[in-house]
Amino acid sequence: MRTDTATVIRLEDYRPADWLIDTVDLTVSLHPTATMVRATLALRPNPAGAVDAPLALDGDELTLVSAALDGAPLGLDAYTATSQGFTLPHPPRRAFTLTFETLLNPTANTKLMGLYRSSGVYCTQCEAEGFRRITYFLDRPDVMSVYTTRIEADAREAPVLLGNGNPVESGPLDGGRHYAVWHDPHPKPAYLFALVGGRLARVGRRFTTRSGREVELGVYVEPGKEDRAGYAMDALVRSMRWDETAFGCEYDLDVFNIVAVSDFNMGAMENKGLNIFNDKYVLASPQTATDADYANIEAIIAHEYFHNWTGNRITCRDWFQLCLKEGLTVFRDHEFSSDERSRPVKRIADVRNLRAHQFAEDSGPLAHPVRPNAYREINNFYTATVYEKGSELISMLKILIGSEAFRAGMDLYLRRCDGTAATVEEFLACFAEASGRDLSHFALWYRQAGTPSLMAKGAYDEAARTYTLELAQATPPTPGQETKEPVVIPVRLGLIAADGEELQLRLADGRELADGLFVLDAPAAKLTFVDVPTQPTPSLLRGFSAPVKLRIDLDEDDLLRLFRHDSDPFNRWQAAQSVATRLLLRAVDAVKSQGEPGFSPRFAEALGALLAATDDHAFAAQVMALPSEADIAREIGQDIDPDAILEARRALRASVGRLIGPRLRQVYDGLASGEAYSPDAASAGRRALRNAALDLFAAGDPEAGAELAAAQFEAADNMTDRFAALAVLAQIPGERREQALARFAALYETDPLVLDKWFALQAAIPEPGTLERVRALMSHPAFSLANPNRTRALIGSFAMANLSQFNRADGKGYDLLAEVALKLDDANPQLAARLLGAFRSWRSLEPGRRAKAESALRRVEAKTPLSADVADIVSRCLA
Ligand code: ARG
Ligand code: ZN
Repeated sequence: MRTDTATVIRLEDYRPADWLIDTVDLTVSLHPTATMVRATLALRPNPAGAVDAPLALDGDELTLVSAALDGAPLGLDAYTATSQGFTLPHPPRRAFTLTFETLLNPTANTKLMGLYRSSGVYCTQCEAEGFRRITYFLDRPDVMSVYTTRIEADAREAPVLLGNGNPVESGPLDGGRHYAVWHDPHPKPAYLFALVGGRLARVGRRFTTRSGREVELGVYVEPGKEDRAGYAMDALVRSMRWDETAFGCEYDLDVFNIVAVSDFNMGAMENKGLNIFNDKYVLASPQTATDADYANIEAIIAHEYFHNWTGNRITCRDWFQLCLKEGLTVFRDHEFSSDERSRPVKRIADVRNLRAHQFAEDSGPLAHPVRPNAYREINNFYTATVYEKGSELISMLKILIGSEAFRAGMDLYLRRCDGTAATVEEFLACFAEASGRDLSHFALWYRQAGTPSLMAKGAYDEAARTYTLELAQATPPTPGQETKEPVVIPVRLGLIAADGEELQLRLADGRELADGLFVLDAPAAKLTFVDVPTQPTPSLLRGFSAPVKLRIDLDEDDLLRLFRHDSDPFNRWQAAQSVATRLLLRAVDAVKSQGEPGFSPRFAEALGALLAATDDHAFAAQVMALPSEADIAREIGQDIDPDAILEARRALRASVGRLIGPRLRQVYDGLASGEAYSPDAASAGRRALRNAALDLFAAGDPEAGAELAAAQFEAADNMTDRFAALAVLAQIPGERREQALARFAALYETDPLVLDKWFALQAAIPEPGTLERVRALMSHPAFSLANPNRTRALIGSFAMANLSQFNRADGKGYDLLAEVALKLDDANPQLAARLLGAFRSWRSLEPGRRAKAESALRRVEAKTPLSADVADIVSRCLA
């Protein structure tokens, strides 16, 4: 199937549904290959819809067994039904019920959408359009219904039966079967429907909400893994408390359940009262999870819980409004993690992630606005732009109107839109009202794609004691948007004197910059600061106050001054990154012209000085992590030669490692801890810095570094330290590496989530042998393309985290990805499409690689039939 003929859904074509469905009564009789679903839908004409409309319900790969209207079987001539839909050409012009029986095969459902089985556990995934794979429905988020679900199953196969809402009753049935009935009083769209049936262990806790509601919390995991569910439960309780204080949001059912499953296409899903998670984001123990895993679990548990208000109580009118729930909820989970941990460190990590994923997406063929205008496959729009840039827009909104007005706007939104399927316009109207501000220009951020550049130029006039700062903005064209308008950019700034003092911000026209905030809402602006006693260094975009690329020509002196003295921790980190980037860009040029990259020692000295003085370990660890190869590639932007980047980065790391080796060793020894592992932020920060020191030390002295790492590997009592040691060893070719890898595999051979780390690490080794290694690992007994975690670990990290090897000059990296995508296209098109996103930057490569990437993409495009998911990604990449 070619994509140019596939239907394009457009925002401007939105119209309300012609029918509403007030209640849904489901009986799902679970069976591995023959699950019977009986669904009774109570329909009525939508007063806001068309009068004579036929009734057309969505379906996807459905087998209809029977259909009845108001309880009476429908004659064959009264309707048309295919696997893809059900139509009543002449529906009654009144309220009526439709009852369908559909027959499902959950075992054969490899797409992991709708009802499927994961390691024997029945579970569902209905966002975005999975409910139509269970029964015929108006599968759109603005059709909201009250659901009652009766689940029946073999009592041994599925002793645990869970649904949305509250449990109503349960009991035995004949033939070794049993049932449970769940009722969810909150009207919801079908994408929030869920059920689970299986042999699962429960970890429970009670929670009393602020107003006294008693809630039974449950985390369900594979039996035997109960001891790995504690942290998720702890994060849930902290999330529930935090949402009450930070946003006044209280939980609204008697139970809240989380189920961990091992086959899941995404991170997790916020089904009402029954969140279903990829087990990777639930299960953790000191021996199996790293500090990063703990932080992810905390963030994702919070994210899904926060959706209960921003997503469920208030949902989206249509899928174009996806950022309304996702961007806002990402913002909320970032705030939560910032409050629970270190705000500056969290900000640095989030910006790293934003640049790596969203900036990359925004500068290539897959760029789209935070609120897209059109899509062919909605599953391809669960993107870094919708999520991460969507969250940045909320951050900017808060900066622009201030914390108080922001909270008032949220309160208004949560009150006014509660129980509705809302739009971005309705959301923004609440903030405009609460703040008394006109947000119409700000709203452009939602419609315009592309990452704006913010150009800054400063000039000091010693005689006049003035400092002039010229700011200008420009956004490059993106697919379908040739010309761009200036956006509203909040620029938090400061001026720093040579001695590190923060200077007063007094403008020539008498204005003051409150909190150092200047809002650039024009193509350009000129600020003249007066009473500036000495030549200052500007510190711009503090806290990364807008998702833009700052272009300012600061020399090494300026940057090192910011690194030492800026009162804004984010910009201190940024200054170090900027110095490193300058060094790396020059080194790439040197490598390309066959020269030896040489580095000024001042950067290494500055890092050494930080290490000698800091007690913020997590922050220092972030500083020590130099820009990635992909960061450098984005900085170069075109005609990219990944091998030159790899070599330049290696050379810088080796040079820094050598220059401050003794200091690194001292830090490493000084941070050794005799205490038992605890995942808290302070302990994690200590480990992060110690392991970053080991990593750089080994870059400077591979022999001594490998020895230290090997010792750490053996002595470690937790996965963070053991895996960090393995990661260091993995960078150093030789027998020792292979032995350590083999030993790790032997230690964790029965633990798939830990083996995923092992797959991912090897796939990311930047050496030509990696391609063959990855191919060999695809035949490893623990590997399976049927499991998304395995596939993402091995293939995803090869394609996304190994710039030089995925982009091999001979094109064999592309061939591998194309091959895997073609294999996966029928079985799990969503996963295939997601992996192919690795091609999003192919046009910025040098011509040889570009040609190879294009031919791999063309090979995928030529498959027939080709899934809508893959066709959409490939055709946009090639457009
Ligand atoms: N709503 C879920 C979350 O972000 C993600 C669902 C992803 N769905 C998809 N089709 N990719 O919490
Ligand atoms: Zn979400």
